[in-house]
Amino acid sequence: MPRTVTLTTDFGSGSDYVAQLKAVLLGAAAPPTIVDIAHDLPAHDIRAAARLVGQACLGFPPGTLHLVVVDPGVGTGRPLVWARLGDQEFLCPDNGVLTAARGRLPLAEARAIAVPAAAAATFHGRDVLAPLAVRLIDGLAPATIGPPVAALVELCWPQPHESSTGIVGEVVHVDAFGNLVTNLPAGLGPRLEAAGRIRVGGQDVTTIVRTYGDAPPGTPVALVGSQGCIEVAVVEGRADHRLAAGPGTVVAIDDRAAAPASALQCAAGGGAADRLRQWDREHVWHAFTQMQEYEPLLIERGEGAWLVDTEGRRYLDGSASMWCNVHGHRHPRLDAALAAQAAKVAHTTNLGLSNPTTVEFARRLVEIAPAGLEKVFFTGDGSSACEAALKMAFQFWLQAAPPQPARTRFIAIGDAYHGDTLGAIGVGGVDRFTAMFAPLTFEALRLPSPGGPRPHGETPAAAAAGALAALERLLEEYRGTVAALIMEPIVQVAGGVLVHPPGFLRGVREITRAHDVLLILDEVAVGFGRTGTMFACEQEGVAPDFLCLAKGLTAGYLPAAATLATARVWNAFLGSHADRRTFFHGHTYGGNPLAAAVGLESLAVFRDERVLERLPAAIDRLRGHLVGLAALDHVGDVRQCGLLAGIDLVADKASRRPYPWQENRGTRACLAARRHGAILRQLGDAVVIMPPLCIAPAELDLLCAAAEAGIRAATEQ
Ligand SMILES: Cc1ncc(COP(=O)(O)O)c(C=O)c1O
Repeated sequence: MPRTVTLTTDFGSGSDYVAQLKAVLLGAAAPPTIVDIAHDLPAHDIRAAARLVGQACLGFPPGTLHLVVVDPGVGTGRPLVWARLGDQEFLCPDNGVLTAARGRLPLAEARAIAVPAAAAATFHGRDVLAPLAVRLIDGLAPATIGPPVAALVELCWPQPHESSTGIVGEVVHVDAFGNLVTNLPAGLGPRLEAAGRIRVGGQDVTTIVRTYGDAPPGTPVALVGSQGCIEVAVVEGRADHRLAAGPGTVVAIDDRAAAPASALQCAAGGGAADRLRQWDREHVWHAFTQMQEYEPLLIERGEGAWLVDTEGRRYLDGSASMWCNVHGHRHPRLDAALAAQAAKVAHTTNLGLSNPTTVEFARRLVEIAPAGLEKVFFTGDGSSACEAALKMAFQFWLQAAPPQPARTRFIAIGDAYHGDTLGAIGVGGVDRFTAMFAPLTFEALRLPSPGGPRPHGETPAAAAAGALAALERLLEEYRGTVAALIMEPIVQVAGGVLVHPPGFLRGVREITRAHDVLLILDEVAVGFGRTGTMFACEQEGVAPDFLCLAKGLTAGYLPAAATLATARVWNAFLGSHADRRTFFHGHTYGGNPLAAAVGLESLAVFRDERVLERLPAAIDRLRGHLVGLAALDHVGDVRQCGLLAGIDLVADKASRRPYPWQENRGTRACLAARRHGAILRQLGDAVVIMPPLCIAPAELDLLCAAAEAGIRAATEQ
């Protein structure tokens, strides 16, 4: 007999919980064959629980079936079933084709693992899954169920929500007959009778005849099973293609003829959301965005690696909310740290004043930073962190002993990006961002990027040697006039994910030291684990004179930045106020305590959740996916550094001929990926994959599948 363990307690998170769970499950006389997670847990816990129970089951003896049944219950929208038989893992969605409908698996594979027809009568939730488990345990060969699935796949349905006009959900699946299955909750009977209007994809639906379950015949929308699907069927056994609906199409039941609620009352609602989109178009000037072409997408919530829009659609945050999210959205510890600090004070100035949290944060940063970086100057964003470093370097030489006022130049790398303020674009080298502003700023001396294209087929080592030789030449030519060299270590992200050859950074440090030129490392994008180590420069054992941090500094929660400097630099600024050696520079919110509290807690999360130790597995998994992506017909080069990848889209694979830039293929690929449940960002025609470090293996699989779908849509159609 199968032994079922039903878990109904609250689920925490982290390795402790897995250990406890393992102890309970393995300590039992016979290992459980079904772990049934009660459906009334909050959504977040269900998700965490599924993953943890899955992990715990990995410890069971081979040859035993373990089935994790996660029943989402009404409205929580996340069915997930994971099974393990011996060393094989199976995905058993409640109805296999739903998986395909979400674009998570190839259709053939998903069909193959569909629930057997008899069991499918009840169609959804534990009604199906428990019998399925029994059948498996009774000796049904896994082949009868279907092939093993390479990876745990999580089905993520968007959540239906109430709008000003009624309930809005979306189609999650189109069955073999063309019937539309939505995520609308069960129990709508009385409301359906009152419904003024049922709309699918903006069209009124009037011809629905098929009904199911507890919906009386003739009801326009049928309920399926007891766990919360509505099936909108047009004519039994036949699709009504007039609807032209597919997964993602909005289904709305309008049963509230009442006056529309105000936008503020229901920001998430249909009408209100439309209004917000309109206001967004009219009033919000978006960064790096052509507003004439802008199509609003309003993200209302986040959870882990996921973002949820005002329509309840869920997307994986494939760009870590512009490269800054680290531990996921709504991390309970970060949320708590923020709230705790807010209960004390939200902001105090750091112009001649301090607060305990900011001091503690500075101290922690110094502890984890490369040796010698002892002083922390807080700013507000990455650009201002770089600006501060540039100005400090310049002023340092004015105040050095002896002063060297001729040191007014900076060296930067080809395709460098250090932000958008005038000083930052002076050292920036991405022409499309900077060329127009050239009259307003200074021009840096430029070193070729050894991570850029190597048209003459030179090896990476040769490219590095060439760039280092060029640096030597520059420093000879401009001897005594260079204040500092600024660069992103290891990989230039905004330049197009240009990965530097090993040894380049170390070489730069040696040469700059030999010429007594200050080294500014901009780790705004690559700091805080992105490349696999806390700071990228650690990989070559390099300690700079300045380290610029932002983005991941607060794990993606709040705008904050820091410029770390050495005691040598700091000392040059000391003196009486009358000496005028002060650094006359500051940002109102620099050292903001809320940001400091979250940043401090983020570092604790790094330690407690062993984030860096767990990264190699994710990095390897991404590498595996990139092999497939690199094979696509219109993918040229693919570059990876840690949990970061750039995928070049090209018109011709053999010659790597780019697309005409006006065709905007990169943007098109990222927009298409949204339809497959991922938010991605491009750099020109390079699609960038840069998720939060906390992304789970299955989520990474989904993200890469969405990236592939987006790339195919933008290049093959
Ligand atoms: C390397 C690097 N430096 C500086 C910046 C500017 O940071 P911010 O956008 O916070 O001003 C960025 C932003 O992407 C960056 O990638």
